[in-house]
Amino acid sequence: MYQVYPRSFCDTTGNGVGDLDGLRTHLDHLVWLGVDAVWLSPICRSPMADFGYDVSAYDEVDPLFGTLDDLDALVAEAHAAGLRVLLDWVPNHTSIEHPWFAERPDFYVWVDGDPGTPPNRWIEAFGDGPAWAWDEGRGRWYLHLFLAEQPDLDWTNPAVVEAMHGTLRFWLDRGVDGFRMDVVHCIGKGHDLPELLPEQEAKPVVAIDVPHTHTLLQGIRRVLDEYGAGSVGEVYLLDTAKVATYYGTPEAPELHLSFNFPGLWAPWNAAVWRARIDEVEQHLTGPGRWPTWVLSNHDVPRHRTRYGSEARARAGAVLLATLRGTPFLFAGEELGLEDAVVPPERAVDPGGRDGCRAPLPWTPASGHGWAGGAEAWLPWPPDAAARSAGSQRADEGSILWFYKRLLAARRGSPALRSGAFTWLPSDPEVLAYERTSGSDRRVVLVNQGPAAAQVGLEGAWQVELATDGTSGPEALEVDAAVVLRPS
Ligand code: NOJ
Repeated sequence: MYQVYPRSFCDTTGNGVGDLDGLRTHLDHLVWLGVDAVWLSPICRSPMADFGYDVSAYDEVDPLFGTLDDLDALVAEAHAAGLRVLLDWVPNHTSIEHPWFAERPDFYVWVDGDPGTPPNRWIEAFGDGPAWAWDEGRGRWYLHLFLAEQPDLDWTNPAVVEAMHGTLRFWLDRGVDGFRMDVVHCIGKGHDLPELLPEQEAKPVVAIDVPHTHTLLQGIRRVLDEYGAGSVGEVYLLDTAKVATYYGTPEAPELHLSFNFPGLWAPWNAAVWRARIDEVEQHLTGPGRWPTWVLSNHDVPRHRTRYGSEARARAGAVLLATLRGTPFLFAGEELGLEDAVVPPERAVDPGGRDGCRAPLPWTPASGHGWAGGAEAWLPWPPDAAARSAGSQRADEGSILWFYKRLLAARRGSPALRSGAFTWLPSDPEVLAYERTSGSDRRVVLVNQGPAAAQVGLEGAWQVELATDGTSGPEALEVDAAVVLRPS
């Protein structure tokens, strides 16, 4: 799965902001790379207080990105190219500019009280202020887990359930294949708003985990099943055992896939990664509980930046694509992009996440293949010319080609796609595992330090893919990763 942040992908209109046509004209990049599906961060109409995660009309494309016709054309071309299209669905909150906020106050979470005292200690996600805003006109508090411009919907109201199911049907009727569902673990919170434990730092977004959400997800799943559509939920609980419950059961299925972010937050350290992988192998197994892996997205510094070197970024990519589960790529990681350095006067995001959202360079020329005209909405990432897709396509040693070979190795191997996972005994600094499916067997060695990998493998093995391009046994000694297959 390949995540596109539409504002940053490619601008075709000259306003400095990426758009749907920018993605449509680069679908060939995705096909060449070898991904199966694309998820678009929000494209619905929005005042952009949170860059689209504040929706003011669930059935319109924001004019910044194009029109409904542009979306239809994009979906049709993606389908013709063999790619599925998932949209981002934002069910926990709307924009304060959504007409519902004025016309249907019963759609939101309100608490009576006195203007000086918020109803509880809950803190909004992006700052340290209360997750409550006082509405002067109504003389009541409303809940906002994120910005005050993003009031939380009240899913205990059946009219909200029906209206939000309608927003899914609107896009499914147009032929989209499914949804990434924003902070979907929070939708069931209702009116029971308990104080949080001190260790939860009063941030409800990482703590809300209530039974009603599961009932709601079963209802959402029934809508998706009518269309044969899929879902991946953003369950922002940093606890794999809890995340696993959001897949539901075979009798009462919920999400098709869920993000599981402990790996996203793991440092580049073999012991930590071993523990994260063990948790997944323990909790995300059995019918309907297929894991996901994410190293980068639009909310955190890119893993190239976090891990500090391209060798590690490549080794991380080997983990991403060879562990048991569905890998999620964030547009630009295949170019090895680092976060942009954003000077304070150009910072725009209330959550401080501008760096990873820097525009994608398509060509080495100035403007990097964007339409030109207005300056891009954020600064370019470092080395944009050399990192551009065009420059790297011309160099088979580039990280871009490496990702292509990695995805091809995965596609060509039932073991890597869906095989069982087993650790191999190894030096503690090495992650060594095998994946098997029938007679297909692959071994993966990820060496996280300068120490040589000493893994006792019986039989003859061939290097299928090495992050530094080496093809002999010396590949086992680099600060990188290799995939082996029986020769
Ligand atoms: C999670 C999204 O990934 C993030 O970008 C957004 O700000 C919040 N949810 C609020 O919608």
